[in-house]
Amino acid sequence: MRKCAIAAASVACIAGSSFAGVIGPDVIVGSLPNLQRFGNVGQITGYSIATTSCNIGDQILNWNPNTNIHPVISQSISRVGPAGDNGTKIEMLGISWLKHGFCALQGTVCGSCQPAGGGCPPRLGIGCSDPYSSGLNGQQSNLGLPADVNAHTGFYSMPFTGVNQSGNQIFKRIQVDANLLDPGQNPGATYWGAGQYVQSEDSSFGNQDNNASHRQILVSSGSVNSGYNLLFTGSTVREEPVIFAWETVDNSVTIIPVDVPETATAGDNNGRVYFAYDVSQNNDGTWHYEYAMNNVSSDNRIRGFRIPGLDIADMMNIEFTDVDYHSGSPISNTDWNTNASTSDDFEIRGPSFGSNPNANSLWWGRLYRIGFDSPNAPEMVTAQLRTFKSNELLDVSVMAPQSANVCLGDCDGSGTVDFNDLVAMLFEFGSADDGACNADLTGRVDFNDLVAALFLFGPCP
Ligand SMILES: *[C@@H]1O[C@H](CO)[C@@H](O)[C@H](O)[C@H]1NC(C)=O
Ligand SMILES: *[C@@H]1O[C@H](CO)[C@@H](O)[C@H](O)[C@H]1NC(C)=O
Ligand SMILES: *[C@@H]1O[C@H](CO)[C@@H](O)[C@H](O)[C@H]1NC(C)=O
Ligand SMILES: *[C@@H]1O[C@H](CO)[C@@H](O)[C@H](O)[C@H]1NC(C)=O
Ligand SMILES: *[C@@H]1O[C@H](CO)[C@@H](O)[C@H](O)[C@H]1NC(C)=O
Repeated sequence: MRKCAIAAASVACIAGSSFAGVIGPDVIVGSLPNLQRFGNVGQITGYSIATTSCNIGDQILNWNPNTNIHPVISQSISRVGPAGDNGTKIEMLGISWLKHGFCALQGTVCGSCQPAGGGCPPRLGIGCSDPYSSGLNGQQSNLGLPADVNAHTGFYSMPFTGVNQSGNQIFKRIQVDANLLDPGQNPGATYWGAGQYVQSEDSSFGNQDNNASHRQILVSSGSVNSGYNLLFTGSTVREEPVIFAWETVDNSVTIIPVDVPETATAGDNNGRVYFAYDVSQNNDGTWHYEYAMNNVSSDNRIRGFRIPGLDIADMMNIEFTDVDYHSGSPISNTDWNTNASTSDDFEIRGPSFGSNPNANSLWWGRLYRIGFDSPNAPEMVTAQLRTFKSNELLDVSVMAPQSANVCLGDCDGSGTVDFNDLVAMLFEFGSADDGACNADLTGRVDFNDLVAALFLFGPCP
């Protein structure tokens, strides 16, 4: 699988990989057959996505509607579109409450099936699949509050919050602002639907990291005032969360798996986040930086992103896009902000768990992005994700603007721009990723950089 190639060597990324020698029950999304559009409230449209689950493990998976041993299903819609002059970004546009499963048919979408009973029993047999139509996944009385479910263990209490509650056409469903789907306002955008299953047995056998899949969506017809019809196209990309759609559209995107520990001291693996970045150059020679994070099977969660050594004064057009909670969810929608940044370290973050347990943090199934421009050329740096519950910093190697104290023209890092740097520049001539040698901050090292270096001659500022 593609994601294995980019994962750290120790990452077990094959579906059904062993856990203490046992596979156990392992539920994945085998296919995303269709979408349904409900009505609008203002210009917000309600949608649901059909999901067919498969048990690719070697034990029966329980699906008991009366206990908390049944899957909950999250659905979302995302967009990949232009960013800066020459780059791309991914944003999640809307996410549903969680559909609570009640029984499982025993189908063969993922291959041969050993049925765990006749009809629709409260369990899914080995190898078997179970279809949930878009109607069922949009059925309001069976949609529960996302914040009730522990992202890592799959635990929740019964009866779940929201059971038997119905509302208007968009209540608890995926909610998308029609302006974000309007082809006229979104040239070059592609759309992606995703579904994910969470169930506690799957989790207790360590199989929780492969339960999301995504598929491309076409905007077929409609208007901003009436809402748009959406259709799936292409095939379901199994066991990959939607952040991988960004890489599908733009092959310069880099995706990194980050394992989130339970606590600072224990270090137990409490799930995974995918972190992705992309850098492109704007037409005026500045750079556009894009970051996204997705796929938290982590209850610890993420509440911030930090680039040590980067002065916020070297950044322009800072943007943050989360995906709003709705229908009475207690989780705050207040955006992360950059107030904690200093001239030495950039940070965008939300409040701590200590100050507000319902503060805006990255729950499982969701995707957040951060974008900005900078005159500073890119280099590999150690950036950090800040965890919500344990408030610790997790290192992640990404491309980011060279720190403010990079001395342009000082190729050899001597602290002075001098004759040796001109010589070093000649050796770097024509190279694209040139750090401090890129004295004029544009394109490749060329004659203009030599001229710029002459103007910078002398001690670094
Ligand atoms: C929800 O509705 C169903 C069907 O009417 C009923 O059996 C169940 O007891 C209700 N649950 C709660 C918690 O009210
Ligand atoms: C989460 O991470 C795992 C482990 O790398 C991966 O296999 C899986 O596809 C990811 N997605 C989700 C949401 O499960
Ligand atoms: C950005 O894209 C435009 C065309 O869309 C191209 O002309 C330009 O050279 C690109 N700039 C950079 C710096 O890549
Ligand atoms: C997959 O399911 C488990 C529960 O079985 C859940 O804890 C986990 O968050 C899910 N995985 C991801 C990547 O969200
Ligand atoms: C923090 O930043 C936000 C904008 O991102 C601003 O609205 C808010 O007032 C700031 N808060 C403080 C305490 O400075």
